[in-house]
Amino acid sequence: MKTVQQIDALRRITASLKKPLGLVPTMGYLHEGHLSLVRNAKMDCKSVAVSIFVNPTQFGPSEDFENYPRNLEMDLRLLEKEKVDVVWMPTNEEMYPSDYQTWVTVEELARKLEGLKRPGHFRGVTTVVAKLFHAVQPDKAYFGQKDAQQSIVIQRMVQDLNMSVEVVVCPTIREPDGLAMSSRNSYLNLEERKAANVLYRALMKAQKAFEGGEHDADRLRKILSDTLAEEPLARPQYVSVADLKTLHELEGSITKALLSMAVYFGDTRLIDNIVLVD
Ligand code: PAJ
Repeated sequence: MKTVQQIDALRRITASLKKPLGLVPTMGYLHEGHLSLVRNAKMDCKSVAVSIFVNPTQFGPSEDFENYPRNLEMDLRLLEKEKVDVVWMPTNEEMYPSDYQTWVTVEELARKLEGLKRPGHFRGVTTVVAKLFHAVQPDKAYFGQKDAQQSIVIQRMVQDLNMSVEVVVCPTIREPDGLAMSSRNSYLNLEERKAANVLYRALMKAQKAFEGGEHDADRLRKILSDTLAEEPLARPQYVSVADLKTLHELEGSITKALLSMAVYFGDTRLIDNIVLVD
C-alpha cells in the first residue's frame, strides 16, 4: 500500500494503477462503515484509492473541525489490511492555498435539510469532492447512504458538470443496537451512547407504520418526533419526510420518501435516515 500527500506524486501513482480505479473519499477515523465502502470498491474495481482529509471548508465556524477525531496510524493499519492500493492524505496547504477562491456549489438541493442547518456545508463538500475527483480521476467513487443528502448532492454535481465518474451509494452500516456508525459517535458519553439508538428506533417505528398502511407524510413525521420525545437525552433539530429527488418536504399520501433527522445528544449532533418505498 502506497501512501502519498502531494498531488503530483499521487498522479504518478494512479497513472500506473490498473483500471477501473475506485475512490473512497473519507475524513479518517475509520470504522466499519468506511471499510464497507472500501470492500465494495475492491469488489468492483482493479485498484482502489482512499483519501483521508478532514476538509476544513465543510465545517461551520462553530462546528467541530478542530476537535474532529483523528487517528492516522490506526486508519493506515485498517486500510493496509483491506489491501488498498494507495492512500492519499492531502495537505491543507495544497488543497487550500491562501489565495484559494474557486468553489463548486449545487444550488437548491444543498439548501434543504442539512444545508438549512449547516449553511455552506455542502459548498465545502462539493468543492473538496470535485478536487478529489480531479486529482484521482477515478472510474467509480463510493459514498454511504448514511449521509443520504451528501450522496444526492454529489450525484447532482457529477451529472451537472458531466464528470466521468460513476457514483456508487452503499448501505448504512450499524452497531448491533441499530446506531449508524459514525466517527462522531466517539464524542458520546456512556449514557448518551445508550440513548442514541433512539434515531434508529424512530426510523424503524415509522417504517413499520408505513408497511402497515400509514402513508400520510405528516403522521409519519409525528411518529418520528414522538419516538424521539420518549428519550430525555435526545434534542431533535429536525425530522423530515422528503421527496427522494428534490428533497422537498412531502404532504399527504406518499408512496416513497427519504425519512431523515438530526438529533443532539449533549453537544454531539447525529444524523440518520432510511428510504421508504411502497
Ligand atoms: P466521512 O464522514 O469520513 O465519511 C466518508 C464516507 O463514509 C461517506 O461517504 C459516508 O457517507 C460514509 N459513511 C460514514 N458512515 C457510514 C456508515 N455507518 N455506513 C456506511 N457508510 C458510511 O462524508 C465525509 O467523510 C466527507 O463529507 C467527504 C465525502 C469525505 C468529503 O469531505
